[in-house]
Amino acid sequence: MSEAVRSLLRANGESARETVAESDAGFLWDFWYPALRSTEVTGNHLRTAMLLEVPLVLGRTAEGKAFAMRDSCPHRGIPLSYGRFDGKNLECSYHGWKFEACSGQCVEIPSLTSQDKLKVERIFAGHYPCEERDGYFWVYMNSGARIAVTRGGESRGEEKDNAEAQRTQRLAESLRSSGAERVEEGGASPSPTGRVGLELPAAPKLSTFSEKYRITHLACELPSHVDQGIIGLMDPAHGPFVHQSWYWRSRHSIHEKEKKFEPIPNGFRMSPHTPSSNSAPYRMLQKYTGEPVTTTIDFVLPNIRTEEIRSGKLWFSSRATVTPVRRDLCRIDFVAAWNLLLPVWIFRIFAQKFLRQDQETMILQAEGLKHNPRLMLIDDADRPAKWYFGLKAGLLESRRTGAAMAHPLVGPVTLRWRS
Ligand code: FES
Ligand SMILES: [Fe+2]
Repeated sequence: MSEAVRSLLRANGESARETVAESDAGFLWDFWYPALRSTEVTGNHLRTAMLLEVPLVLGRTAEGKAFAMRDSCPHRGIPLSYGRFDGKNLECSYHGWKFEACSGQCVEIPSLTSQDKLKVERIFAGHYPCEERDGYFWVYMNSGARIAVTRGGESRGEEKDNAEAQRTQRLAESLRSSGAERVEEGGASPSPTGRVGLELPAAPKLSTFSEKYRITHLACELPSHVDQGIIGLMDPAHGPFVHQSWYWRSRHSIHEKEKKFEPIPNGFRMSPHTPSSNSAPYRMLQKYTGEPVTTTIDFVLPNIRTEEIRSGKLWFSSRATVTPVRRDLCRIDFVAAWNLLLPVWIFRIFAQKFLRQDQETMILQAEGLKHNPRLMLIDDADRPAKWYFGLKAGLLESRRTGAAMAHPLVGPVTLRWRS
């Protein structure tokens, strides 16, 4: 985290976060989110990450399978990341309960005697589906794990008196708020998607168009809610002001643009088009291949913007995701691959500068957003932002009612703006 982001968060205060902890943070559950880079996890080392305000402990088993558990022991809540991992099971540092890392299932409670009847295998630590792809650990943040079955308090024998039932109830409440997962007597484990009867979708994968290519990853934290991060990502009008530079564009290069958009499932597409003629890299590419350059840009919920640029046999493909860490912090993960004669280090210099410009702007914006100003979305430059909020509302409503999702775009639309 950059010092600027850190100091801003300090200024905002931790307590403010706590008081709103129970309110809806506006996150989209039941989607894959990138938690960390694959290269950060080596051997039996455990790593931590936070997604949607859920603390996670992640690692890789001896067989190479990625796993993500809630970083909280279901016994007393100590972070499991302080424990030991042997390549298969994670042992809690407090009382030594052991959990199978991929399923979260408890396999051992050292304090139990031969007289104890507690069914160890019925206790689960919170865990989430986890896949490695494109150099990231992706975690499926299922709402099922968040509201897991919690008729808690299996204690010795069946002879619970009232007082104990109440104690159990209180314990269950605290377990629920700590997100511990228990499977009730005779009950079933929550479905992997958290939403009954639905199959888990595949984790996102970057499109590539040849055997050999270069690939690079960048990340940058923004001190803002994910919604601000996302509408910043799809905002066409800030380019000439925030990303001014001789090789990209200047404020004098502003001209009127017209772009066609079409609806796609859970998102929208800027229809394949010849990219902006005021950008030097595109002009160079066209000169090099002698073939037209086309660009397709998609946005899909919850947070994914992909861009594919093709010219003859040459291609460039990128994906940016804006991932909610907390309600006041999100992170852009950017991955790009290409088969152009473009060295990774040169690309990184430009891409890093680009991301830094966005980050610096959003740090300044966060200063203003602290005071809850009224904001505006104008046509046509902010129409994609309106669609994002429309998609989000449509998705939540369709999940609530089970009806088909209402899409904010009913057909192709042409937007015009100057940038
Ligand atoms: S807190 Fe983890 S075993 Fe007790
Ligand atoms: Fe930008």
